[in-house]
Amino acid sequence: MRKPMVAGNWKMHGTRAAAKSLLESISQGAAKLSDVDVVVLPSFVHLALAEELLSHTNVAWGAQNLYLGESGAFTGEVSGLMLKEYGCEYVLVGHSERRHVFHEGLALVADKLKAALAANLTPILCLGETLAQRENGETEAVVAEQLTTAMAAVGIKAFEKVVLAYEPVWAIGTGLTASPEQAQAVHAFIRQKIAQQDVALADTRRILYGGSVKADNASGLFSMSDIDGALVGGASLDPKSFLAICQAAS
Ligand code: PGA
Repeated sequence: MRKPMVAGNWKMHGTRAAAKSLLESISQGAAKLSDVDVVVLPSFVHLALAEELLSHTNVAWGAQNLYLGESGAFTGEVSGLMLKEYGCEYVLVGHSERRHVFHEGLALVADKLKAALAANLTPILCLGETLAQRENGETEAVVAEQLTTAMAAVGIKAFEKVVLAYEPVWAIGTGLTASPEQAQAVHAFIRQKIAQQDVALADTRRILYGGSVKADNASGLFSMSDIDGALVGGASLDPKSFLAICQAAS
């Protein structure tokens, strides 16, 4: 049995005061939830606050990005070692905004996956196609390439520590959600790709869906056999919506 996970990707949102209030509301609400891993991913500057307010609660936290190595002359970047110091358990790798807005290619994403694992963080590796790629019938090829480069870089055994997230780029922040059936088809494809290398491991990997997940579409998505939770952007900034999604997964 895979335990569901709901992770809130706050992106570049939240003043200090807003982050504090959101962290407090989420930790209070999550105290009543069981059988779901609740995770928040605030911006780097709010991680100390997350550590202060979420230690000894059942909400885990992590970062949205990291850079390679432990330290170095990389102005503006943050290492996995630094994230660990602030109690981060998770880190997003390969989010579509990193791939598309910041032009992170397959090789850099693979290196970041390695860096996350080396720092003993649990990477949430994001995969997904653009609208043009879907319309050209390239969804499986694109997702397969993203996945296989990552698997080749770290080795299949290391995938024991990896959480996956399927996030069709056309559904992120657009209000367009993949239908449960569309999402399920890609999730099953991802699991089957992992199974080609390790059947037992494929069965245990959590694959989250992301892309305009809201309180009112979460249950339909979570009823699918290969959807093990959600990576939530917009709706994770509203504690009621986020907690309702967590509740639907629990
Ligand atoms: P969204 O974002 O829920 O606002 O579509 C999801 C994500 O980018 O992880």
